[in-house]
Amino acid sequence: MATVPDVRSVAAVEESNPMQSAPFVIRRVRCETDDTFTVELEPLGEKKEYSFSPGQFNMVYVFGVGEIPISISGDPEIPQLLVHTTRAVGTVTKAMAKLRRGDVLGIRGPYGVPWPVEKAYGHDIVIVAGGIGLAPLRPALYHVISHRERFGKVVLLYGTRTPADILFRAELENWRARFDLDIFVTVDRAMSGWKGNVGVVTTMIPKAPFDPRDSVAMICGPEIMMRFTAMEMAKRGLDSDSVFVSLERNMKCGIGLCGHCQFGPVFVCKDGPVFPYTQVKDMLLKREI
Ligand SMILES: Cc1cc2nc3c(=O)[nH]c(=O)nc-3n(C[C@H](O)[C@H](O)[C@H](O)COP(=O)(O)OP(=O)(O)OC[C@H]3O[C@@H](n4cnc5c(N)ncnc54)[C@H](O)[C@@H]3O)c2cc1C
Ligand code: FES
Repeated sequence: MATVPDVRSVAAVEESNPMQSAPFVIRRVRCETDDTFTVELEPLGEKKEYSFSPGQFNMVYVFGVGEIPISISGDPEIPQLLVHTTRAVGTVTKAMAKLRRGDVLGIRGPYGVPWPVEKAYGHDIVIVAGGIGLAPLRPALYHVISHRERFGKVVLLYGTRTPADILFRAELENWRARFDLDIFVTVDRAMSGWKGNVGVVTTMIPKAPFDPRDSVAMICGPEIMMRFTAMEMAKRGLDSDSVFVSLERNMKCGIGLCGHCQFGPVFVCKDGPVFPYTQVKDMLLKREI
């Protein structure tokens, strides 16, 4: 059980120091893959709802270990439940992976510029995800599904390294069963028993069922994948102004104060993490700052 330091209720924190976390209790932990897990959280204290927009992130504090940015992966129409899906890669994420129901995390947020889902109203929407990149895009999919009539075709292209790395399997199956969503999954390397597509996610773009003259694309995954996806979208004829990507950079404050995530005039935490591809395409050629 994690120890809980001096934290106050969500309402009290919002009224004072924006750098101080509010306590959220873990209601459920779900194992997604070998190294990736989802936690469902509820705020402690009087405020029982947590509104956010698809694509926003929180600074998540594992008490006594450290604080990291993690996107919100839940449904924006269910504000009673805060959901984060995290891959255990280092100190903080591995400590977070050990937490269980009843443990408490510190949360600051939501921060950042969301996916421009409204821009896709009346148009086709193409969501392209690589690996853990499906987590920050899932709230956008929930939004699209809740307001399905506002969009033209809805296409999800999702790629992972192996079948064992596929996130949200049951949900993907449910979405695939719907006649009004086009869901395509591919893996870089197949294992025996895999009957689906094999190949990187960009190989699915040429034949994906959307109208490139009337679509908005949202891409999240490793930077090289986002770069090649944007290039394939351009080859299909999609206007680069209609392509959006979500960037990951090291962050400390998350609110534009420390300069840790700064690249030229851009602060990834407050000007992003979601950007028009045209604005950040040079950044995608650079390594982590
Ligand atoms: C806006 C934003 C949203 C994010 N959303 C999510 C999310 O929804 N889910 C999620 O799992 N992560 C997300 N991340 C990434 C997450 O913040 C990092 O994985 C985390 O900060 C790593 O902290 P750590 O202390 O566990 O690792 P560290 O101890 O800092 O790093 C340990 C090792 O892991 C490597 N490493 C660090 N980050 C990554 C990474 N992302 N992938 C692979 N290796 C890495 C480091 O290079 C280092 O070698 C997001 C990042 C940003 C900026
Ligand atoms: S993380 Fe501090 S300015 Fe962006």
